[in-house]
Formats: sequence, structure tokens, C-alpha cells
Amino acid sequence: MKKILVLHGPNLNLLGSRENEIYGDLTLAEINKRIKKFAKEKGFVVDLYQSNHEGELVTKIQEAKGTVDAMVINPAAYTHTSIAIRDALAAAKIPTVEVHLSNIYRREEFRQKSLTAPIALGVISGFGATSYLLGLQAVWENISQRHKVR
Ligand code: DQA
Repeated sequence: MKKILVLHGPNLNLLGSRENEIYGDLTLAEINKRIKKFAKEKGFVVDLYQSNHEGELVTKIQEAKGTVDAMVINPAAYTHTSIAIRDALAAAKIPTVEVHLSNIYRREEFRQKSLTAPIALGVISGFGATSYLLGLQAVWENISQRHKVR
């Protein structure tokens, strides 16, 4: 069975009580529950991981090489700052879709630049918890189809 790693970056553990008007009312546990349900329906294994620490996310990405088939990552604030996470993704060479709950392109200018997006197959931004499910659908199709886009 294929295995997909879902990585949640800093402050996403606060979902449900964090700027609800931007990020919605669902907690991370509720989002993870939806992700698990989706994985069960499609028939893949999901590994869920959240960290507030850049280095821990880097280590998790390094460990993913050779052990997971694909990744969905919401690097949160590290999207805009972390060359380390970008380099880890580039080294891992695992099909990855970047997701954001909010539409980063209609927010502050500093959020409109993603350092990690160039390493991803694509980016889904602005659909709340559904961004994760759309990201999973996209990466799942990518690793399931015989003729991949990349
Ligand atoms: C976010 C957007 C980032 O700019 C922000 O720092 C986050 C969450 C999102 O999911 O919309 O923490 O990645």
C-alpha cells in the first residue's frame, strides 16, 4: 500500500483557536481525522506529523526518503523563510504538493512568496481543511498513474 506523509508546520497545532477568521474553526485533530478518512476511502496509508521546529521538519523530510511515496506539506510560516526545508525537499525528491489553508496570494506581501513551492509538484491554497484533501488527491493521482506529469 502506498504511504503518504502529511507535514504540518509551526502554529498549526493551534488551529481552531488561532485567527479563526483566516484559518477556520477546525482543530488540527479534526483536520487529521478528515485526512485519515480520505486515506481510508482511497486506500493509502497516511503518516501525520506536526512540528513547531524547523530542524524537526527537516529531519522528518530526510527520513521520508525511501520510506514514503509522496508528501503533502503545509510549511506554514516556514514557507516564506526556510531555505533548509526547501533544500530538504529538493534532496528527498519525493512527489510533494504544498498546501495552505488560506489563500496566501491575497494576504500580506511577505506571504505571497513561497520558497518551497518551486520544489513542489503544485500548490493548493485557500480552501481551508479542503486544501489538504485536494493536495492528497493530486499527489495520490500523481503517484498512482503510470505516466506521471513529472
Ligand atoms: C499558512 C499560511 C502562512 O502564511 C502562515 O504563516 C501559516 C499558515 C496557511 O495554511 O494558510 O501559519 O501556511
